[in-house]
Amino acid sequence: ELTDITTLLLSRIRDVADYPEPGVMFKDITPLLADPAAFTALTDALAEIAVRAEATKIVGLEARGFILGAPVAVRAGIGFIPVRKAGKLPGATLSQAYDLEYGSAEIEVHAEDLSADDRVLVVDDVLATGGTAEASLQLIRRAGAEVAGVAVLMELGFLGGRGRLEPALAGAPLEAL
Ligand code: PRP
Repeated sequence: ELTDITTLLLSRIRDVADYPEPGVMFKDITPLLADPAAFTALTDALAEIAVRAEATKIVGLEARGFILGAPVAVRAGIGFIPVRKAGKLPGATLSQAYDLEYGSAEIEVHAEDLSADDRVLVVDDVLATGGTAEASLQLIRRAGAEVAGVAVLMELGFLGGRGRLEPALAGAPLEAL
């Protein structure tokens, strides 16, 4: 039984077959972003999670996590911290490498943006294999901050990201709308 908001959000996500490569069904959120009622409902729902988790910062994961996370931070009245792909942040950074299906990737955060006083909620559009979110939780802990949880629009359950994230979450919630 789907709630009204889930039905609204699902109706604004477009499935694109064979993108970015054959055999992949891409979840395109641009119709949702273009619909103010849906984007507002999503922002409100994620901000509610942030408030409930008593988060003091939102970490958004490049690039779509920026689009969703920034208005959530404003709505919740807390700061927004970008976690970027390696080489994009000008200040002193913490870096975390993680494995992809083929090869590896690296993400970074400004070390001064997080402290021991922070409880951090990670926001992104999709949890797929969980590699990106797992690396972001490792960055947050290495910065000395506490993990308040992970909140995503969509979880692709068949890829097993929830199980992969479990150790890094250490009891903090993973919420998928
Ligand atoms: C996508 C998505 C998540 C991540 C999920 O981002 O927005 O951040 O992949 O995959 P995972 O759970 O397997 O790590 P992408 O790397 O395509 O970056 P982009 O938003 O900059 O296009």
